[in-house]
Amino acid sequence: MNLIVLKIGGSAISNKNIPFSFRKDVVEHIAKELTEIHKEYNIILVHGGGSYGHPIAKAYDLSKGLYAPKKQLLGFSRTRYYMSKLNLLIIEEFIKYNLPVITIQTSSVITAKQGKIYNFYIEPIIKLLSLRMIPVMYGDVVIDEKKGIAIISGDDISTYLAIKLKADKLLFGLDVDGIYSKDPSLEDSELIEILDISSFTIKGTMTKYDVTGGIFHKIEKAIEATKHGINVYFFNITKQGRLLDVINEKGTFTKLITG
Ligand code: IPE
Repeated sequence: MNLIVLKIGGSAISNKNIPFSFRKDVVEHIAKELTEIHKEYNIILVHGGGSYGHPIAKAYDLSKGLYAPKKQLLGFSRTRYYMSKLNLLIIEEFIKYNLPVITIQTSSVITAKQGKIYNFYIEPIIKLLSLRMIPVMYGDVVIDEKKGIAIISGDDISTYLAIKLKADKLLFGLDVDGIYSKDPSLEDSELIEILDISSFTIKGTMTKYDVTGGIFHKIEKAIEATKHGINVYFFNITKQGRLLDVINEKGTFTKLITG
């Protein structure tokens, strides 16, 4: 059975501007659409941190590594705690829709080296998929061989798994319609429906809110997956029906191609 890896962006399931704001309505329609998709595909879900992960990780400067253990180790605990809370809220909705989800807690199976995934114990995920379960992971803080601690984003995890497990599709669910020519809040920005990675260059700066590199890091990861022959899409997961549509290559999205 073909595999779909879906990254659910933290900004789609929480409000960036309000700490710990959970968008239950969005998660509910994702759950509903996943029940259809799971009939035909194996699925791995990976969610982001949104307003549960980023503000805390930022407050304790965790992306720089461990340089002030007394303070930062508390930040490590707190980030983990709030990511677990967000994960539970999501899982609760999925279980209501009878999806056989199971969380694989990130820092128990991943270690990093210089901020990149170094060890990843994926055997349980393979086994769970063979049972037709839906493994759920999330961006989180982990142990880093060099920096002490690091933040591994959901984008890193989903790309890693899509490549390793030879997924058919890697989907990035966002709170906007896809990748834009400029910041999507600018009036003259345009949606890029087909993004040719052979002629695309990444330009721009990151927002202060995001500790894992935001949209530019996502595009980098998406390019990596595309080079491995995976069909990669960016789409608006906050809009009902878009997830089902993108699976069938219908509606509004950005698709990556290799030229
Ligand atoms: C971030 O994960 C995790 C933490 C900040 C602890 P992501 O980078 O995948 O989160 P989003 O999707 O940008 O919110």
